[in-house]
Parts: sequence; structure tokens; C-alpha cells
Amino acid sequence: MAKSGNKKTMEEVVALAKRRGFVWQSSEIYGGLANVYDYGPMGAELLVNIRSLWWKHFVQSRKDVVGIESMILMHPKVWEASGHAGGFNEPQIDCKNCKNRFRTDHLVSDYSNKIDPDNYDNQGLDKLIKKEKIKCPVCAKFEWTKTRDFNAMFETHVGVLEEGKSKVYLRPETAQGMYVQFKNTLDSTRQKVPFGIAQIGKAFRNEITKGKYIFRTLEFEQMELQYFIKKASWKKEFEIWRKEIEKWYTDVLGVDKKKFSWKPHHQDKLAHYAKKAEDYHYDFPWGSDEVSGLHYRTDFDLSTHQKHSKQNLSVVDGITGESYVPHVIESTYGLNRNLLMLMIDAYTKEEGRVIMKFSPKVAPYKVAVFPLLSNKPRLVNKAKNIFDNLSQEFPSAWDDRGNIGKRYLSQDEIGTPWCVTVDFDTLNDDTVTIRDRDTKKQERVTVDKLSRYLQNKLAS
Ligand code: GAP
Repeated sequence: MAKSGNKKTMEEVVALAKRRGFVWQSSEIYGGLANVYDYGPMGAELLVNIRSLWWKHFVQSRKDVVGIESMILMHPKVWEASGHAGGFNEPQIDCKNCKNRFRTDHLVSDYSNKIDPDNYDNQGLDKLIKKEKIKCPVCAKFEWTKTRDFNAMFETHVGVLEEGKSKVYLRPETAQGMYVQFKNTLDSTRQKVPFGIAQIGKAFRNEITKGKYIFRTLEFEQMELQYFIKKASWKKEFEIWRKEIEKWYTDVLGVDKKKFSWKPHHQDKLAHYAKKAEDYHYDFPWGSDEVSGLHYRTDFDLSTHQKHSKQNLSVVDGITGESYVPHVIESTYGLNRNLLMLMIDAYTKEEGRVIMKFSPKVAPYKVAVFPLLSNKPRLVNKAKNIFDNLSQEFPSAWDDRGNIGKRYLSQDEIGTPWCVTVDFDTLNDDTVTIRDRDTKKQERVTVDKLSRYLQNKLAS
């Protein structure tokens, strides 16, 4: 059985994603826009499933976390206060010959995965490029500018008239929305520190490194959770949230724990807001790479917003009566990277056929319904009736083209865990065949027990 893990798999996953409507190049009929992708019908279902599993797991099933939805556009002072306007920088280098621009750390790590660019500052990266004689990946010349810092925030303008326009940014992380609404959240709920605010939403970064498909894009979605704590408990909470991240990937998404590893950030390479940070890496076909991050952000964000907005963002300790600004443990998950990871992980080849072995909770469709023959109205009507009922409860597919074997193949390719076939026996005894995607086993189940059957399977 061939599973994920090599370059071929990546190319095959990308081809399947296009063919079966998971992921498409944005604006493809105009030649596409680099680093921007759209999601087709299967991709959209997968995104919805990941989002709702995350929301249910981290927000709805916890008493100590509430969710909010803040906007992409925020007051520009947010980004001055947060440090992003001045400090959200990436190292960039230009090829003087072909004028292509690269992120220097990515240029170096793409050249050799034995080099960890986190060990070098900008000058160090330039020296390394010289020493290793790393050539431009586009034109193969060795004519580099020096590495400079580049702010990755997208700018836009609000206001209709030219003179009335003012500059705003597309948020580069959703986190700030949760900090600036910290007080409103406390005032409108019964939460007390320790507690969390979560949100799912779009973020934008002017990434200059191209490639790696939907792993790194200009527009993407984050699922972030800010857990507000007392300073004294940060080490304990950091460990708790480490385990929470691991649980999300193994218990909720159903991915093998062996495919993950933690990568701590170097102390001198931490983001401007963090005191300690670790990334959670999945074993992608190109090597291990980040899917999630865990950051101890201290009281940096709330304190800086308190200072800039002149609003009191402190809380009072119920026992000592002492007033303090809470500290934050942030866990952050890239939705699109989670989707890519799940697609690579699910991609399985058995006897020359592709099966997307998504966990049933994640799979775009839970069940497909087929009439054995499409030219027998009684079979078709009965199957349509079953489809209409099941689709009220489960995302369901309908297929009456070709033969049953081809329909199974087609559903396997998009990862549908169960297929229901209505045949002539159904008309006599009201039973249908259910075929399992992974075991290929078939069972007869009465129509009135179908919904319970699927519910039990999904819950197990
Ligand atoms: N609020 C903290 C924060 O934004 P980050 O490590 O810069 O931290 C968090 O980003 C997560 O967002 C990453 O682990 C990754 O999954 C996702 N992410 C970041 N940049 C991305 C991009 N350009 N394209 C897709 N996902 C991205």
C-alpha cells in the first residue's frame, strides 16, 4: 500500500485536487494568480468540516472558551500598537539579473534542508549564500542584492475621495481582533481568567516565496485561540496547550501522531510578541513543515493596546483584589495547511486505484446513494427518496451514471466512507447494501435503520 511521503504523491495529490474539485488555481482562465487558490465543491466541504470540527472541539464543547468574529479591516492604530506595522518583517533578497525576489530564509532552506535558516540573521544569510554559492533558482546567476527586511502586510485604503482616503491594512493574523475585543468579551460573558477567546477568519500576507501549492498563500484562514492566564501559570499552560494541539491532530482529525514533531523557535528568532514559541510540524512530502504554532505572548498585546488606546484592559484578582493585565498562551492553526495535510495524509493507492482515506468526520460526503440501474424508475424513485432523507442529515452524494464498480471508484477518489445501493431486493424487503470504503465489506441494512447506522459509524 503506497501512502503519502514522496514528490510523486504531491504531484498526484495536486492533480486529483484539480480533477475532483478540491483545489483550483485562482483566475485560471486568465493564467492564474500566483500564490492564490480557490476551493471547488469538495474543497469547500472539507473546509466547512475542518472549521466546524475545530469550533465544536475548542469553543462549543468547552466552558472556558468563547468565540468571536472580528473583521479583516481594523483601525490602523491596532497595527502600530501590536508592532506589526514596524516589525512584521521577513528577510528578502533580489536577483539583480532576472529581478525575481525571494525570501532569503526559504532560498537557503530550499537549497539544502540540512541548513536551518533560523540560526542566521540577515548578514549571516548573505554570508551563507556567498559561501555556498547559492544561485538564483530562476536564472541560475549569482548576482544577489543584500538581504533586507520586507513588511508582509497588505495595504489598502478606505474612503471614496482621493483626499479623504486613509491607509488601512488587511490583517496578517486574526489574533489582534481578540485582544482589542478582550474587554467587551469579559463584560458580555461570565468568563474569568483563565479563559479563552477563539476565532476563525481570513488573514493576508504579502508572501514573496512562490510554490508549495496551498501551503503558503497570500490569502488564507487561521483558527486561533488566545488563552488568557495569570503570569505565574504560563509554563503549566504552555504544556497543557501543547497537548491540546496534539489532540486536535490525532484525536479529532485522526492523523497518526508519528507524523508530527515539535520545533521550538530559536530564542533570537522569536516573533516580536513572543517569549517562547514552538511550531507543530507534519511530515510533508518535501520534509517536515509547520501546520500549527504555540506561542507564549506574555502580556505584550493587551499591555500595548492598553497603552495606545488608553483603555483599562486589566482584570482584578477575585482573591487578592490585585489588578493585573493577563498573559496569553496562543495556539494557532492554518486552516488551508490543515486541509493540504489531510489530503496528503488521506491519499492512498491500492491496486492502482486512489482512495482518499479521510476520517469519516472530515470526508466531504459521508454517504453516496445509487440506484442499481438508472433506467428502472422504481429503483430510481426509491433511491431518490432515500437520498432526500439522508441528505437532510448527512452531506450526501448521488450517482446514477455508469456501473456500480465505477461509482465506487469515483466515491473512493473523493473519500466517501459509505455507499448505499438500492437494488431489486430493496423493493421487496426494504433493505439496501452499504459498502465500506476501506474494508470493501458490504452489509444489508433496512432503510429505517440507515440513519442510525451512519450515526453510529460516525460516532465510533
Ligand atoms: N497569530 C500568530 C500567527 O499568526 P504564525 O505562525 O505567523 O502565527 C499561524 O501563523 C499559522 O497560520 C501557521 O502555523 C500556518 O498554519 C498559518 N499560516 C501562516 N502564514 C500562512 C500563509 N502564508 N499561507 C497559509 N497559511 C499560513
